[in-house]
Amino acid sequence: MTEATQDKLDQLSAFMDEVSQKEYAESYLIAVLHKAQALYGYLPQDVMDQVADKMQIPTAHIWGVATFYHYFNLKPVGKNIVSVCMGTACYVKGADKVLEALKRELGIKVGETTEDKLFTLQEARCLGACGIAPVIMINDKIYGELDAKKTVDLINQYRKAKK
Ligand code: FES
Repeated sequence: MTEATQDKLDQLSAFMDEVSQKEYAESYLIAVLHKAQALYGYLPQDVMDQVADKMQIPTAHIWGVATFYHYFNLKPVGKNIVSVCMGTACYVKGADKVLEALKRELGIKVGETTEDKLFTLQEARCLGACGIAPVIMINDKIYGELDAKKTVDLINQYRKAKK
């Protein structure tokens, strides 16, 4: 068991006890997956096995739900999650150029994490900031009116912040 430290498992278990009284099994499972992702950053296999055990449901059902909701990360993610909005407003303002700049600068494709574990690149639908398109979100912060150069500058700021 690598990721599933006892402390985090205890927290997840306590959360499951707390919400298991809820009537709707599906939303209960989703709430548990949210909590697991908040604790681990993604949904580790060994942790999901234990969730399945405790909830007495097949692990395959958990993976079915987790993959249906794109929000959940099935693989470990980097310290910074970079989400590029590919919604219509952003797309017409050059989101594809922003995305290409990120792929080139980070040396990864969408869905991948850099080797130094500093960045994970994702695509998103409308992030609700169309007025400042094209937009990216890094963790929970929105940046708008970007072009390739501004995007690379932004990534460099995050690289420096790490030191
Ligand atoms: S389409 Fe990108 S923020 Fe709305």
